[in-house]
Amino acid sequence: MSSNSTSEPTIFIIFGGTGDLNARKITPALYNLFLDGWMPKQFAIIGTGRTQLTDEQFRNNMLEDINQFSRSGKAKADQWANFSKGITYQASDVKDAETYKEFGKKIEQLNTEWKTQANVIYYLAVSPNLFPIIASNLAKAKLAEDKDKTRIVIEKPFGHDLDTARELNQLLSGIFNECQIYRIDHYLGKETVQNIMAFRFANSIMEPLWNRNYIEHVQISVTEQLGVEERGDYYDGSGALRDMIQNHLLQLLCHIAMEPPVSFNADEVRDRKVDVLRAMRKFTPDDVRTSAVRGQYGTGWMKGVEVPAYRDEPKVDPQSNTETFAAIKFFVDNWRWQGVPFYVRTGKRLHQSSSVIAIQFKDVPHLIFPTEAAESWQQNRLIISIQPEMSIRLQVQAKRPGIDMVLNVVDMVFDYKGTYTQQAPEAYETLILDTMLGDQTLFMRGDQVEAAWQLVMPILNTWQHKKSLNFPNYSADSWGPESAEALIARDGFNWFTLPVNTKN
Ligand code: BG6
Repeated sequence: MSSNSTSEPTIFIIFGGTGDLNARKITPALYNLFLDGWMPKQFAIIGTGRTQLTDEQFRNNMLEDINQFSRSGKAKADQWANFSKGITYQASDVKDAETYKEFGKKIEQLNTEWKTQANVIYYLAVSPNLFPIIASNLAKAKLAEDKDKTRIVIEKPFGHDLDTARELNQLLSGIFNECQIYRIDHYLGKETVQNIMAFRFANSIMEPLWNRNYIEHVQISVTEQLGVEERGDYYDGSGALRDMIQNHLLQLLCHIAMEPPVSFNADEVRDRKVDVLRAMRKFTPDDVRTSAVRGQYGTGWMKGVEVPAYRDEPKVDPQSNTETFAAIKFFVDNWRWQGVPFYVRTGKRLHQSSSVIAIQFKDVPHLIFPTEAAESWQQNRLIISIQPEMSIRLQVQAKRPGIDMVLNVVDMVFDYKGTYTQQAPEAYETLILDTMLGDQTLFMRGDQVEAAWQLVMPILNTWQHKKSLNFPNYSADSWGPESAEALIARDGFNWFTLPVNTKN
């Protein structure tokens, strides 16, 4: 396997090595990076977890994970043999100082063997209550001393609210420099999300239109058909606002609303995103009532199967007040966006799984055609489809062929499938590679996370103190509660949905 990687020799220590995230995302991503030649020539992966496993057993688990979850399909024997050479496992108690001494020894051994000082990436794919414990123990064991060579990757959730996020930031910044901390929001690694920046800032035709003079409103919808599955214990203490809006949806919003950065430098890009979060209008309790909607799914039928209500899911409180759906109308109070509503919604057990951003432009100032000519009149829309369809479509009016003048809406489409033959990498591949390369552009900076928490706190607080009396208020396989329709309908708009199996 040739290596086109410019990354230096690297040791990954994966905390949560026996967990679901490692199985589904991290392991397949590392393997695909290896297949595509992005792994450094010298690398080692040390998985760690409480379970007692031999190196062999751990490797076999990883192989099964790759066979099940990798976008490149089942591993080929020779490729797997090469990749797996560097994989070992260490059963550990992360609270025990001995654990870290063992890591220290392994790092030393590898450095001696490789005749170098390798980069060490501590990947925390564990429950958030372990973040401070692991970080502090790394510091005590002097495993985070080298500011150039050591990095820490922190999975979400980063804090449970503003205070806990601040505490965690403070603790981490006492141990690591900001440039060593890689806070993951996996949406930032998605190919289509990265492309929003390219689309906006590598084309000159967008910028003149990209403001309140031409854009009427923006919608960001991330809808999922899945319920909470096995994650009831985590989710019931979280809810849609914490789980999706505080991070993924607000980051999507930042991509749409940010000012052009001066360069593609990590801090420059992140500064512009923080500007957006700071410009967003703060909610008063009254705004929460008028501009934020919550929902919780009841039972229903999905693809012919009856599914349980949220409150009947495993490890969920039968009286739970946790929202599985949220829709919010935000404003960005600056010159570019004054008066333009940004509607965001997300939810589980909805009719369709899709992530779509719709930008609706203002209507023409004067209609020169007779009303009957404009059969299906619709203002111009730009639809950025993040997943599962990966496309950008501009909806415009066109004359239908024929001797009479009839207008209808047509799509000008850029779709990934039709344009590129190569498979897009998974978000985790991009993010892990960037961690190796030391590029933080697609990671959340400490102040970015705090600004996002600051924005959602008034909504969280209001919802927590005022229990919802009508939960469950939407049935599985619907588009969420009626109040979410009303939220946008009051302003004269509808939620945009992509037709299923859109043909280009
Ligand atoms: C995670 C949330 O961050 O994102 C999950 O915790 C959610 O609840 C998931 O299902 C959605 O990610 P994706 O990549 O499947 O859209």
